[in-house]
Amino acid sequence: MIPRRTVIEPFKIKVVEPLPQPSRVEREGALAEAGWNLFRIPARRITFDFLTDSGTTAMSAAQWAAMMIADESYAGSRSFEALELAVRRVTGFPHVIPTHQGRAAERLLFSVLVGAGALVPSNHHFDTTRANIEHLGGEAVDLVTRDAADSRSRSPFKGNMDVERLDDLCRRERSRIPLGMITITDNTGGGQPVSLANLREVAEVYRRHEIPFVIDACRFAENAWLIKRREADQAERPVHAIARSVFDLADGCLVSAKKDGMVNIGGFIGLRDPAWVPRLRALLILTEGFPTYGGMAARDMEALAVGLDEALDEGYLAYREAVARYVAEGLEAVGMPVVQPPGCHAVYLDAGGFLPGVPPAQFPGQALACALYLAEGIRSCEVGSVMLGRHATKELVRFAFPRRVYTQAHMDRVIEGVAEVVADRDRLRGMRIVEEPPFLRHFTARFEPLR
Ligand code: F0G
Repeated sequence: MIPRRTVIEPFKIKVVEPLPQPSRVEREGALAEAGWNLFRIPARRITFDFLTDSGTTAMSAAQWAAMMIADESYAGSRSFEALELAVRRVTGFPHVIPTHQGRAAERLLFSVLVGAGALVPSNHHFDTTRANIEHLGGEAVDLVTRDAADSRSRSPFKGNMDVERLDDLCRRERSRIPLGMITITDNTGGGQPVSLANLREVAEVYRRHEIPFVIDACRFAENAWLIKRREADQAERPVHAIARSVFDLADGCLVSAKKDGMVNIGGFIGLRDPAWVPRLRALLILTEGFPTYGGMAARDMEALAVGLDEALDEGYLAYREAVARYVAEGLEAVGMPVVQPPGCHAVYLDAGGFLPGVPPAQFPGQALACALYLAEGIRSCEVGSVMLGRHATKELVRFAFPRRVYTQAHMDRVIEGVAEVVADRDRLRGMRIVEEPPFLRHFTARFEPLR
């Protein structure tokens, strides 16, 4: 028998949209007009959009079908009941507060819990999480394992938290810590998973210090899958059971449903205890909407209720992991270093390693991202000194993969484009910022290449 090595897309395509293919000259014009910031380029001038895996999912026929039967009632919508049931089944959290996306969930929960001088530990806070904590006068503290510093190390769980430093912080600063967090998977750190063993230790530290434990769980299914693949004693368990074991350790979760919710918009807070719920609902009504829709249309809630289960399909997750592995291997083969080992949602190019002559102050990640756009119409995202400022420890460029959107042929072309940038690497120059806003500058800043 001939062995089957090719991992195939586990779907047939029913609806297609044209792929924009601007010429090199058009790309040069678009980049200059956008102030060398890929966020500012119109999507119709992008061929491969790897800016984010957030809200870019292709939905399934089952999700579109569910949207048609949505109940758009302002209060008490049946679609909210469907969502509540799905969230309870997947997470076990009885109290479900719907929001329009992840950062709305963050803002609500932190408004109730975080005040001036508060400390909120995590492995790595995502940028909106950090910004929302800082906006309230608190401090977001990153305590990721030291393994994470080495992008070449193939350590399987580089999203783990440093439990010793966490315990030490909790002992010294208990009174300043209103909640403790962890992000699964660690997006900022390279999409690295957190092991179940580490999650248990972290939960135990928070429990011992009586600190509520809230998981930023937007990639809960991918994290559970990587636990199954990499944590020896979890290999035989179904992925939904692993995900549930993770949620069972926590008091609540913040979820941007735009990732493993498999939808284009949406989010929620899940909580075990009702104590914070009245205050959260009051704030929800003030800024998001009535408690049975938050910021979502009922059709979005229906799609999310279906999506939460689709994200836990093991055939889908095996394919999802294979996409990242295939691209990572392809990039390394043409001479582009990437953060190892790749996770599921993205591959992180090591721009600092690729351009050792460009110092962080000249934004090597931004320079590489722009070169990739010019070469092949690829839109990627700098995760380094532009996005994280003084918190940056590495200069990375993220290829985040929309779920179920691009095929293997697309990825082959992307790898060819990267090979061209590798061949031209000596001509790449750093960048400088010519205009920037007071926070979250990566979205809107303007740049200029250095001569
Ligand atoms: N937490 C994590 C770990 C995230 O990756 C994101 C968003 C959020 C919270 C905020 O959720 O966008 O729905 O408000 N990450 C996107 C990304 C933007 O591209 O990684 P949101």
